[in-house]
Amino acid sequence: MPTFAAADLEQLASQLLQGAGTPPELAAIVADHLIEANLAGHDSHGVLRVLQYVDFIQNGHIKPAGKARVVERFTAGAVIDGSHGLGQVIGREATLLAIEIARECGMGGVTVRNCHHTGRIGTYTLMIAEAGMIGMCFVNSGGGAQAVLPFGGMKRRLSTNPISISAPQADGPPLVVDMSTTVAPEGKVRAKYQAGKPAPDGWLVDSEGRPTNDASLLYADPPGALVPLGGSVGYKGYCLALMIDILAGVLTGAGGCAPDRAYPGDGLFVMAIDIARFQPLADFSQRVRDLAEYMHATPTMPGVDRVLVPGEIELQRKAALLESGLYVEDGTWNMLLVLCEKFGVTPPAEK
Ligand SMILES: NC(=O)c1ccc[n+]([C@@H]2O[C@H](COP(=O)([O-])OP(=O)(O)OC[C@H]3O[C@@H](n4cnc5c(N)ncnc54)[C@H](O)[C@@H]3O)[C@@H](O)[C@H]2O)c1
Repeated sequence: MPTFAAADLEQLASQLLQGAGTPPELAAIVADHLIEANLAGHDSHGVLRVLQYVDFIQNGHIKPAGKARVVERFTAGAVIDGSHGLGQVIGREATLLAIEIARECGMGGVTVRNCHHTGRIGTYTLMIAEAGMIGMCFVNSGGGAQAVLPFGGMKRRLSTNPISISAPQADGPPLVVDMSTTVAPEGKVRAKYQAGKPAPDGWLVDSEGRPTNDASLLYADPPGALVPLGGSVGYKGYCLALMIDILAGVLTGAGGCAPDRAYPGDGLFVMAIDIARFQPLADFSQRVRDLAEYMHATPTMPGVDRVLVPGEIELQRKAALLESGLYVEDGTWNMLLVLCEKFGVTPPAEK
């Protein structure tokens, strides 16, 4: 597996997106987002997505120059039409607007429809926490990409509907929870499948609802399915996913899950809460720090070094990966090389 410096891989992602017709400043936003996902250890939402996005640009599903269009603006919120643009570009614009509105009136909620894959949604809530606010973000696949069983069901009805919530912390990085409402997101199963590796226990079932470790069964005909977060209490993950479908799909106009809904397109609801309207930001941030320290000080189970707080493991991975470089699976790398050839881009040297 080839390994690259993060900056080189980011430049490559940007050049390839530009090769497909993306304006340079927008390609830079997407490339930065993707490499940050790799650095967080979420390769399922990293540079490999360039392949998918170039495909969608070329078949017309993504309009690479698409920008957010504010179609409604009211006191505490806004409605955005994403003009079928790149999800990371539209998601960023929606987040900046939510922050701006929250500064003005204490809270800002922004809905987004007609945008493409929004990627790692913790990116948006982190931006909000860095602005001194609480961030919330919910995403669905516009009612498409149904690969998840509702609890007790035998047919795929939902997408992996992620949720992210963030809060600033005094003298430390914001706390950011960022997760799919399934045991594993589809991209992580795909990565196992492409690497010819088994999926861990509890990630998926076959088309008959039987637990399986065979990642290829998710892509078989008839396909297997992802299971909701929670294992034996998967009704909790299912209920959460369903309500996210309402927030991110129904409220936004992107669409909730229904028969014959075709991907591509994400629905996104992003919300910023200006903490200072409720209590002094410094007090709040210190209390968040106290809470995190209380968790850190918990005596641990055998084999566990320390109790972590949300977002911490991603920062640990980032520090290590900036040092070691980012590896790219051979299959992904070979496909990226084909794009390099096509767009006349010189691939970076290995680290
Ligand atoms: N845009 C989309 O359509 C879409 C869909 C699904 C998932 N995603 C993205 O996929 C990425 C991966 O999702 P996932 O479900 O695999 O996440 P995950 O299971 O790797 O992590 C979930 C959360 O748990 C926290 N965490 C992990 N280990 C921990 C520990 N030991 N102690 C305390 N906290 C811990 C992490 O900080 C993170 O906030 C996310 O970035 C998500 O946004 C995007």
